Amino acid sequence: MATGPPSYTKVTHSNTYAGIDPTQPGLSTAGKVVLITGASGGIGRATASSFAASGPQALILFGRNADALAETATVARARHAEVTIQTHDADLCDASSVRSALNKVAAEFGGIDIVVHCAGVLPPIAPLLEVDPATFMDGYKTTVVSTLVTAQAVVLANKTTSPNEDKPITFVNLTTAGVLFPPFPGTGAYVGSKMAAVKLLEIFAVENKNVRVHNVHPGIVKTAMLDKLEETIKLPFPPNDSSLPADFIVWVVSPEAEFLKNKIVFSAWDVDELKARKKEIVGDSPGAGELWMGFQGYPRFKNGQPVPGTE
Ligand SMILES: NC(=O)c1ccc[n+]([C@@H]2O[C@H](COP(=O)([O-])OP(=O)(O)OC[C@H]3O[C@@H](n4cnc5c(N)ncnc54)[C@H](OP(=O)(O)O)[C@@H]3O)[C@@H](O)[C@H]2O)c1
Repeated sequence: MATGPPSYTKVTHSNTYAGIDPTQPGLSTAGKVVLITGASGGIGRATASSFAASGPQALILFGRNADALAETATVARARHAEVTIQTHDADLCDASSVRSALNKVAAEFGGIDIVVHCAGVLPPIAPLLEVDPATFMDGYKTTVVSTLVTAQAVVLANKTTSPNEDKPITFVNLTTAGVLFPPFPGTGAYVGSKMAAVKLLEIFAVENKNVRVHNVHPGIVKTAMLDKLEETIKLPFPPNDSSLPADFIVWVVSPEAEFLKNKIVFSAWDVDELKARKKEIVGDSPGAGELWMGFQGYPRFKNGQPVPGTE
């Protein structure tokens, strides 16, 4: 049993395991075009490698550093030598270059099926009274605007090749458990922006019914971002291996994890227990169920009548 934060499942993991092995037939991405942002390092690079193992039609890697993207492609090919990989260096806040790159991808491969949005930044960790609003906005822009730009560009790119069809898209947003945990001093800029991205995608999915959104907290993973965080914060838990979020994300986009759409999940949670709890997680109406941010104590009345269970 791994040591970690409070969990939804009894069993938790700190490393990959058989249930999320991306080479199993149920997790195959054969015929799917997979876009990974933030693929130049950290969790994005590990995720590229896991998707390569799942045998997609093509892997499309985005980041700003061309050399680092090439390194990710090499790492991914070591997992699956035959995989088709394209790299694109672009700033995700630059909507026109992202749209033009993804339109070309859609034209070449017929569209984009899966998006894993790993790009992110850690704004300075500091009390809100002291943060420089200009720096604060830089982090906010990367997290919130890049999420919007990516989601828009993928849907629009698919429309260029399939104008009469709303091609299904599965969009995985990398978030942080900080959006659920009690407020932690110094993290206002980071957690505030991550929360905004979650709500933005919730609305995006309602407006675009062909987009299935999953929010995943990857756990604590040793990356450039974690190194930066550890300059100011001592984390209470040991890091997870990057194979855990990477393989978990391949599982979360699979048909068997569709019930987790619009939810927030931690990659450390055991997938067999999640599947066993599908009914409670989904609930009996939209916005109901578990693993979602609610408002405790509300509602108590509907049309003047007490909501069952609140009398
Ligand atoms: N590591 C953790 O423990 C942890 C915990 C909770 C949540 N997360 C989340 O997981 C995700 C991945 O984090 P990580 O730890 O792997 O971070 P990382 O190693 O710092 O990687 C972040 C990636 O984002 C890319 N990026 C940043 N700004 C960009 C922009 N404007 N345009 C395009 N790409 C941009 C960077 O690529 P370039 O610099 O090449 O552009 C880099 O590849 C983030 O959303 C993070 O918030 C991480």
